[in-house]
Amino acid sequence: MKTILVTGGAGFIGSHVVRYFVNKYPGYQIVNLDNLTYAGNLANLKDVEGKPNYEFIKGDIVDDKFILELFKKKAFDGIIHLAAESHVDRSISNPTAFVFTNIVGTVNLLNAARAIWKDNLEGKRFYHISTDEVYGSLGDEGYFVESTPYDPRSPYSASKASSDHLVRAYFHTFKMPVVLSNCSNNYGSYQFPEKLLPLFINNIKHNKPLPVYGAGDNIRDWLYVVDHASAIDLIFHNGIIGETYNIGGSNEWQNIRLIEKLCEIMDGKLGRPKGTSSKLITYVKDRPGHDMRYAIDSSKLQNELGWRPSVSFEEGLELTIDWYLANEEWLNNVTSGDYQKYYEEMYVKR
Ligand code: NAD
Ligand code: TYD
Repeated sequence: MKTILVTGGAGFIGSHVVRYFVNKYPGYQIVNLDNLTYAGNLANLKDVEGKPNYEFIKGDIVDDKFILELFKKKAFDGIIHLAAESHVDRSISNPTAFVFTNIVGTVNLLNAARAIWKDNLEGKRFYHISTDEVYGSLGDEGYFVESTPYDPRSPYSASKASSDHLVRAYFHTFKMPVVLSNCSNNYGSYQFPEKLLPLFINNIKHNKPLPVYGAGDNIRDWLYVVDHASAIDLIFHNGIIGETYNIGGSNEWQNIRLIEKLCEIMDGKLGRPKGTSSKLITYVKDRPGHDMRYAIDSSKLQNELGWRPSVSFEEGLELTIDWYLANEEWLNNVTSGDYQKYYEEMYVKR
């Protein structure tokens, strides 16, 4: 029996990782540690919360004493660290929160793992989940590979880059058994509707404007979130200690092309005349320091660990749109803020 800590398991990607591991590994005890910030929602995990190999703990990774006590009590064999402040626009209005959670929080987890593992590192693993945004912004050509020099340009990506450096420093200095991955933009169910796709799906449904930043010509590489979870599974189990793996969908879209495609599909789903949703497109002031293009080369992960994405973008986008349209209650709870009462009802009042 292994005890695995997943941090940030109530968020978008974390909830998919928790679900993936709880269902695939009944012999693992999966502990989800999450502070339930605005981005954490236990309703994302309703289908696994009753399973015997799953446990939720509410707590803040910035609280070093709490983290150390938790590690002493649970003696984790592995850590999959996803907890983070994750939204670029929020990092522009409040950078400090990103420094605390993404940098200090990561160091606290590294220190606690070091304290309990000491020199007994056999079978132990600290897996740090990061983003392609640490590599900066590409022009028309080229791809991010694992050796691309870091060039973060937003407070979010700078804080993630800093945490990546610390994780590597603990590997070199203290022989911590770390592994890292840097992934492109994820899409899928349970994503907080501040990010492009869920925000725009919700706005189209309610006939609200679609705020396109700048000229809409920025490019992102989109990966279905379940395929990120399958890559995390492979890297956690088979990745080489000290190594980094890039994860991406080889699926680049200029924002405005993606939004036009979304509008077209939504017109069909909502039974509206063709061209209705695209009338909602509104060009707004650009995001300051807006990175132009991200594109990942994931051939190391594909060649060395045999990872392949399971769905095409067409399939993944259909699945995603259908999920948001079918899960109106989830979306309404998130947009109204009611989801924050869920923890109290489920865990405090009981
Ligand atoms: P998210 O914002 O949806 O979820 C983050 C989770 O972390 C939330 O549940 C939140 O409550 C929790 N959290 C935040 N601060 C905490 C703290 N101090 N203590 C404990 N828990 C805390 O983020 P996401 O999109 O699921 O991203 C997860 C990870 O993957 C992040 O590390 C992010 O940098 C990385 N990543 C995201 C993407 C993407 O496209 N979303 C792409 C590549 C990498
Ligand atoms: P986002 O989902 O915030 O991810 P990231 O900034 O981490 O890549 O944004 C994806 C792209 O969509 C990015 O180029 C910014 C753009 N965007 C808009 O044009 N309008 C919006 O309202 C949002 C949220 C994003």
